[in-house]
Amino acid sequence: MGTLIVSGGRRLRGAVRVAGGKNSSLAVIAAAALAPDVSTLDNVPACRDVATLVAILEALGVRVSRAGGRLTIDARGLRGHVAPYDLCRSMRASFYTAGVLLGRSGRAQVPLPGGCSIGARPVDFHLRGFAALGARVATEHGYMKASTRRLKGTSFYVPRSSVGTTINLMMAATTARGTTVLQNAAREPEVVDCAVFLNLMGARVRGAGTDTITIEGVATLHGNAYTIIPDRLEAGTYLLAGAATGGDVLVEGMIPEHVTALLTKLEEAGAEVVRDTDGVRVRGGELRAVDVDTAPYPGFATDLHPQMVAVLTQARGTSTIRETIFEARFAYTDELRRMGADIKVEGESVHVTGPARLTGAPVEAPDIRGGAAVLIGALAAAGDTEIAQVENLDRGYEGLEAKLTALGARVARGGAMRAAEAGG
Ligand code: UD1
Repeated sequence: MGTLIVSGGRRLRGAVRVAGGKNSSLAVIAAAALAPDVSTLDNVPACRDVATLVAILEALGVRVSRAGGRLTIDARGLRGHVAPYDLCRSMRASFYTAGVLLGRSGRAQVPLPGGCSIGARPVDFHLRGFAALGARVATEHGYMKASTRRLKGTSFYVPRSSVGTTINLMMAATTARGTTVLQNAAREPEVVDCAVFLNLMGARVRGAGTDTITIEGVATLHGNAYTIIPDRLEAGTYLLAGAATGGDVLVEGMIPEHVTALLTKLEEAGAEVVRDTDGVRVRGGELRAVDVDTAPYPGFATDLHPQMVAVLTQARGTSTIRETIFEARFAYTDELRRMGADIKVEGESVHVTGPARLTGAPVEAPDIRGGAAVLIGALAAAGDTEIAQVENLDRGYEGLEAKLTALGARVARGGAMRAAEAGG
């Protein structure tokens, strides 16, 4: 297990360029495997979750090569219908292989993603959706097994806004017989990105970005070239790191409209936010407490909640953050408390009182975004912090040390890093 050593207490200053979207990439890479053809994807971040999905697809016969940020995906040789357990269990997005295999061959056996440290995160909506599309669906021995000769169009109401369900069903329905209507669909930019690429592949998807998506089934799909959108969660993380350290950070290449809820809250908390056509600059200063409810897009992203709490440890007064998407996303609060934060968890709410004088401590990155919160705490803390399980940060953040160093942070990898690099 690798560690990251952070010498904190320095204001972050400077510019970083945002990477391509991690969650978008996972959806679009999966979508590329729907066509027995070759696709070229640009702006794909080199992070561990992308590497894991690529390894899963390779195990199914897809050939993938990388040159810089470009992935070439040759899915002509996709064969078999059983996704490998060892690779799938660590990552929930591995379940996208279910929609791909069903859409492509009408047969899928995919491990049920295990529990996760941020909540139960079941896949019951996905299974109900596949059944509505006409597949026979069963779960046994830890796998979902689904099969059909050809999926058929249907109307399906997603029981609760779900990014993964929306993307999985949208992919599966592209080659179904007839038209599928998804109601209460997720409106996240990653859903739109996937739909745009599916249409470039010859699919007929309308309404992505609204809560009703219509997919008219087509007989075949073909490969195409596409550029992944910027990562709004990575962008938000660096902006929040700037705010927490009282610094001045410009994130270049991002789409400001994707993080409007975040920027509005940062302004309410007293940070200075400058929106530009190609970037956003945040200047920290005297911050004050604000209340935040996480919500599906365009609401405040649950994946920015932990980092926002790290910032609010430095704000005057008591802030309350209510987590409405993932009921157990609080492991990071124990770590921030070890650094001196005043945080109480009550049901689905976090109460954080500041400004706290944080000091470096041995801590760990409990999950991707929880890890980012711990990192922001470490950057704001006086002295050295050693963050264990840095692999969790590497799941979602490309070039972490290089970007932080460019902003003037002092960070270094601990000794056990080599294994993590080999895996990602
Ligand atoms: C995706 C993102 C994740 C983000 C989340 C919410 C990827 C790879 N991951 O995760 O970073 O935090 O959206 O924006 O894109 N649910 C069920 N049954 C289901 C499916 C979901 O109960 O079958 C629940 C979940 O437990 C959760 C809520 O619905 O409470 C939303 O989950 P969902 O949007 O599906 O999250 P993911 O797609 O897994």
